[in-house]
Amino acid sequence: MAKVKSAICWRHVLNRYAMLYFITSNPNKVKEIKELIAGRIAIQHINYEYPELQLDTIEEVAMASANYIRRMKEVKTPFFIEDSGLLIHALNDFPGPFSAFVFRKIGNEGILRLMDGKTDRRAVFKTVIAFCQTADDEPRLFTGTVEGRITDNERGAGGFGYDPIFEYEGRTFAEMSTVEKNRVSHRGRAFMEFLRHCTGKVGCALYNKK
Ligand code: IMP
Repeated sequence: MAKVKSAICWRHVLNRYAMLYFITSNPNKVKEIKELIAGRIAIQHINYEYPELQLDTIEEVAMASANYIRRMKEVKTPFFIEDSGLLIHALNDFPGPFSAFVFRKIGNEGILRLMDGKTDRRAVFKTVIAFCQTADDEPRLFTGTVEGRITDNERGAGGFGYDPIFEYEGRTFAEMSTVEKNRVSHRGRAFMEFLRHCTGKVGCALYNKK
């Protein structure tokens, strides 16, 4: 079971930001972030779909999205957005920044077909959080990655997106609870980086492994 290491992190964040706005139209991401913070800091979800540009890297997509949002008239700050993607080694890091488009077009079945006969199953999930303290601030980026492998078949009923074909230490993300996934996932790690920035405390951990 995951245990929260220290309340001090949350107090630091609370002192610094009375409210953080998380802008996304993906309810699964909201569920994971809410589970991570477990009510300790105030994060308000703003359900807003912004245009996602097709750029070369996930970092560029996150930066462009945050820049687009901060120029909107009614932007609420401080806000963060996040962009994620799956990078498959044998496919030269495809689908990467095109993960959402590829998932819509061919889904997990299509990825498994592309991986047919490939012995190198290594893959990385990446999340980039882009944070703007005020609308005048350039976005700051926080990255989290996790290394795993692409399975031969879809497994598990939990999670979302590519979770049923991404295996980490023997289980797919879809075979984990949200708490278990958060503890090792790209999103959990990126959020930790973000939290370290908020607290100003490098080395502050969300979870202790039992
Ligand atoms: P985006 O960050 O919304 O652009 O996500 C890109 C694609 O990756 C979408 O198809 C998502 O469903 C998928 N995706 C994002 N995060 C995860 C995750 O944590 N697990 C599985 N799939 C994900």
